[in-house]
Amino acid sequence: MNLSNIPFEKSDSSRVIGVCGCGGFIGSHLVRHILNNTNWTVIGVDTESGKISDVVGEARFQFIQNDYTGDSVLQHLTAKCHVIFSLASLCNPSQYNLIPLEVIESNYNKPVRLVNACLASKTWLVHFSTSEVYGKTASALGVHFAANEDTRSDYLLKEDHSHLIMGPANKQRWSYASAKQLLERYIIAAGETGQMPYTILRPFNFIGPNMDYIPGLDGEGVPRVLACFMSALLKEEPMMLVDGGRSKRCFTYIDDVMEFCMALLLNGKKGHNEIFNVGAAQNETTIANLAVQIKELASTYEITTPEIRHISAEEFYGQGYDDSDRRYPDVGKARALLNWKANTSLRDALEKTVKWYLNYYRSNNFPQSGYSHSLTK
Ligand code: UGA
Repeated sequence: MNLSNIPFEKSDSSRVIGVCGCGGFIGSHLVRHILNNTNWTVIGVDTESGKISDVVGEARFQFIQNDYTGDSVLQHLTAKCHVIFSLASLCNPSQYNLIPLEVIESNYNKPVRLVNACLASKTWLVHFSTSEVYGKTASALGVHFAANEDTRSDYLLKEDHSHLIMGPANKQRWSYASAKQLLERYIIAAGETGQMPYTILRPFNFIGPNMDYIPGLDGEGVPRVLACFMSALLKEEPMMLVDGGRSKRCFTYIDDVMEFCMALLLNGKKGHNEIFNVGAAQNETTIANLAVQIKELASTYEITTPEIRHISAEEFYGQGYDDSDRRYPDVGKARALLNWKANTSLRDALEKTVKWYLNYYRSNNFPQSGYSHSLTK
């Protein structure tokens, strides 16, 4: 592809949004959301296109099917785009033990090239980091709170104040979070030169249509928990609860994330040089309860209600797995600066998501060969 043929310039009055990792879960929603709700143009880069096949070819969408870290791609992105979203990432916990070198490459070595390109061109970088940079909570390390006490304020994860607590270096689970953390520090250092505006997002378990893949149907390996449970529904297999399903997560619906992205883009400099937790704190649940809720929902469809089965982390993920026990975000900053909060309840998010998975994968028209594994968020 001759990239110099892309017909718009950074100086054009209409905005041009770059999306690295546009073929992944978040990226594909973002491209569609921008095209459907604005008159802006999107330049998307990804090696895979299965999740965006419906918009490839649209006039305001330039799709570059390539690695986003090549010199020519980076030069074109930074020459044309007003803002670049950085989404490409290996981000499934099952990968952290199995292929830690690739995980670090994908979450540090590669995106740092994009940071350098944005720095050189003074382009606004919106980087999707992870809530996993917070790591474990103090409680997991032996700090105990009084029984019956409402511990939520002790657990509250604050962008600019909380400690980032990783497990030991020989626990490969932390390869991903450590790489993400170092990249955050690199971006902040680059931003402090005053040459590059940046925004760092820390996602809290985004869920919705088209998340990850269904093993054996359009991908291989172990996806994140929601897709694991959807796989169980579709294949009429048990939902596996790792280590009793005690860990807690705040599941955030993808449409709320899109609202966050729009609030960020429309508020211009208010989001510059800030880190934001992007999460639905009110949706906090244990994984055990998530499984029960999905089981209840399944009973309203004409499918076999899945059994819930217990399994140890080692058996499920292999040696080297470790876990974040709880991720509970303070979302006050996003509210104060961007007037954003996640509005979709867990129940609504699960209803919409289950419905989509059942319709999509039962219709048999999903792109089975479009993507072999989940490489991008
Ligand atoms: C993952 C990634 O590491 C982060 O990049 C990402 O930010 C985060 O997902 C996210 O989606 O925001 P984690 O929440 O640990 O982190 O990933 P999941 O695979 O969704 O696991 C959540 C919990 O469910 C874990 O405790 C896991 O052990 C458990 N689980 C997973 C099950 O009980 N059963 C399963 O079938 C799969």
